[in-house]
Amino acid sequence: MGATYTLIGPITQILTLSGLPDRSALKDSELEIIPQGGILLMEEWIYRIGSYESLEAEADALEAIRIVPEGDYVCSPCFVDAHTHICFAGSRANDYAMRNSGRSYLEIAEAGGGIWDTVQHTRKASLEELAALTIRRANRHLSEGVGTIEVKSGYGLNLAEELKMLRAIRLADEQTGADLVATCLAAHMLPRDYTGSRQEYLSDMATQLFPLLVKERLSTRIDAFIEKGAFSSEEIGPYFHAAKSCGFALTVHADQFSCEGSQIAVAFDALSADHLEASGDKEIELLAKSNTIPIALPGASIGLGCAFAPARRLLDAGTSLAIASDWNPGSAPMGDLLTQAAILGTFEKLSNAEVFAAITFRAAKAIGLDDRGKLEPGLLADFNLFPIADYREILYQQGKLKPAQVWKNGKLAYSSL
Ligand code: NIG
Ligand code: FE
Repeated sequence: MGATYTLIGPITQILTLSGLPDRSALKDSELEIIPQGGILLMEEWIYRIGSYESLEAEADALEAIRIVPEGDYVCSPCFVDAHTHICFAGSRANDYAMRNSGRSYLEIAEAGGGIWDTVQHTRKASLEELAALTIRRANRHLSEGVGTIEVKSGYGLNLAEELKMLRAIRLADEQTGADLVATCLAAHMLPRDYTGSRQEYLSDMATQLFPLLVKERLSTRIDAFIEKGAFSSEEIGPYFHAAKSCGFALTVHADQFSCEGSQIAVAFDALSADHLEASGDKEIELLAKSNTIPIALPGASIGLGCAFAPARRLLDAGTSLAIASDWNPGSAPMGDLLTQAAILGTFEKLSNAEVFAAITFRAAKAIGLDDRGKLEPGLLADFNLFPIADYREILYQQGKLKPAQVWKNGKLAYSSL
């Protein structure tokens, strides 16, 4: 039996994001917008894309199924969330209330709240319970147009519990329509019940956990939180060397409150440096000379009431820019990528093109994926249909306008119609 083809259209506007560079500033005039467009799918792939009229003859020859949306729609690629912590149990509403009463994130952590509180709840949950919580959050993200979601461990913080988290993420990946990309964040903080030094903890994780991640194919990515109260770059150096020698890609929680992380991210040629709220001229220049992709996390700025990452200055210096939600129970409980990206855009003066690039192909690149994030032949048929006639309405409505349909791997994954 031959492949199944499907022609979808006519669609009022298709925002392909095709032809845009992987880094530096973008103008809206650079956006390719196909009016009255069509997408011809071959199974889970985009086979052709163009004006609807131009695709009709080929679709007929291929006996394509036809889907004709009624009314106006704008089609964008599915969004990619390159940084989340959606595998967790418990809530940190108490931390949030304490912060808004004047205590700082680091103070609360030192007093036993913060990440350690979530570790307690996550350890108590079974693998199946954690998978169910992750699936629920992933499905919500998918219904809001996010087709690919990076998910970190880091609330287990010992061998058995980090493995449990990563196995839960894999189980969740099998049961949600979104694609989950797992990252090991055993270096989130020194667990309070570990009796040795920070160096010993990291070396235990590198020697015991890394080989199992490879053996069970649980993750190909290693993350570390470089910060006061977490780990210093000196402590992380040997850990990252070990990770690289096992073939892992690296990513760093960098420059959230103090500037150290971006330097080590660049030194180790990490795929991304995430947060960057505290980055100044020196860090921006360093990132601009590197291949490390900056990821802004406006959800953490909104959750903590802190400054945003200097997204405008980064792009003007020539870096790439991804925007991710950082969805987690502590600093970023909202978990609404489109809203957060739209808000960052208004505060940092980012063009529509820069914001869309940051939550599509530039975000995909930041997690090592080049098969999605644009609408082009040969890429995955991952796209959103917004019930609107002009693509600029999407960010103008600041995240309140959600997709009416989400297509993932060539299949209708969500519909409110
Ligand atoms: O990206 N900064 C460190 N890690 C997370 C927060 C995790 C938590 O507070 O539970 C972040 O903001
Ligand atoms: Fe994070």
